[in-house]
Amino acid sequence: MTARESNQAHTPASPYLTQPADAAGSPRARRAYTQDRPIGVRAIVVAACALAAFTASTAAQAAEVEVLHYWTSGGEAKSAQVLKQMLEKKGDTWKDFAVAGGGGENAMTALKTRVISGDPPAAAQIKGPAIQQWGDEGVLVSVDDVARADGWDKVLPTQISSIMKYKGQYVAAPVNVHRVNWLWINADALKKVNAQPPSTWDDFFKTADALQKAGIIPVAIGGQSWQEAETFETVALGVGGAAFYKKAFVDLDEATLKGPTMVKALETFKKIKPYTDKGQTGRDWNMATGMVISGKAAMQFMGDWAKGEFTVANKTPGQDYLCVPGPGSQGAYTFNVDSFAFFKVKNPDSAKGQKDLASLLMSPEFQEIFNLNKGSIPVRQGMDLAKFDDCAKKSAADFHSAQTKGTLVPSWAHDMVIKPAVEGAFYDVIGEFWNNDGETAQQAANKLAAASKTN
Ligand code: GAL
Repeated sequence: MTARESNQAHTPASPYLTQPADAAGSPRARRAYTQDRPIGVRAIVVAACALAAFTASTAAQAAEVEVLHYWTSGGEAKSAQVLKQMLEKKGDTWKDFAVAGGGGENAMTALKTRVISGDPPAAAQIKGPAIQQWGDEGVLVSVDDVARADGWDKVLPTQISSIMKYKGQYVAAPVNVHRVNWLWINADALKKVNAQPPSTWDDFFKTADALQKAGIIPVAIGGQSWQEAETFETVALGVGGAAFYKKAFVDLDEATLKGPTMVKALETFKKIKPYTDKGQTGRDWNMATGMVISGKAAMQFMGDWAKGEFTVANKTPGQDYLCVPGPGSQGAYTFNVDSFAFFKVKNPDSAKGQKDLASLLMSPEFQEIFNLNKGSIPVRQGMDLAKFDDCAKKSAADFHSAQTKGTLVPSWAHDMVIKPAVEGAFYDVIGEFWNNDGETAQQAANKLAAASKTN
């Protein structure tokens, strides 16, 4: 059983069970009034009916939208709050279904339970191939009319719009682009050891040695399988480059998964371990970011949701902290796009709320304010980034150059490319290798190759 599956042990074996919910849509009630009444009474009745009709239509327009998400850290919660407020401005009611747990494993378990019981939320934060798998189960609802009216095809890169469509129809709306291959650095800690941000692995380990001697924890990490996997993903990209990364983690090529470059990547990953602290077991990612913010630790490998935490702590990039691509991964970009998929729900009013939400998620206003808080950049192309900081501007520039150079790669550790069962099996291999000093890099590489066959 994989770590992922063990988290989900109370749900049936198949992650995507068919349990179609009732289709939404019921006609609105309409009122009539009788004409054969005295004029005064009739005027009052007309006025009363007009008021009743107005009230009825306002009530019908206010839809409740239950939204499942896992944005519960400081920066994330602030971003979710923006979404809630903007939806409420449209006259809808936000029903919060927040499931704590970075990376979303707990949230996915909660979602499965609700779908299986025939009562899914109106929208859920899911992404990548999982959208297609839920589509196959027949539980998603199309928002293609909204997408067509709002011209989504024109403002989304096809690489991303294709993930959002099921059988040619939009069933999900993307909100951002997170870059995963970042290294976050406390600027003072680096100054203390007279170092520059490391751009090669040699520099990285030299700096880590100096930091350790100065009594600073060189690398902050949380001992959760997705954080170990994410760190390894960035190391593998830095050590092997984008072409290797794609062969290994997109094509799942067996020879590459157990080959010499993978072994080198695993060795480099494990070499980081002595520079992390003993208290990492079970630590949440935002607690690790907190260690870098306070200066207790110097660096963290993490996607740019970490920037949301620095922002909440009123820290300025370039001054208090630095964002640099993971060593060796400068020309490449690992992307992670958050999105909300829409589910068939029982409440007929929800259809209107779902469309409001879909339209809102892709609107320029939302994409700007949400991403300013979240640490990511808008997924909607052609937006003015004037209000964004240098890390975001670098992210946007690197995204486009990586797209041109063919070094834009999907984050496997964040659900963007491989099916959940294989991803979970990879998590286990990486976690075991990180935590078990008796295992060699070659043994772990062989296990990765075997895990790629998981069904
Ligand atoms: C990612 C998600 C981000 C962020 C992070 C930590 O999978 O895409 O939005 O929330 O997990 O929870």
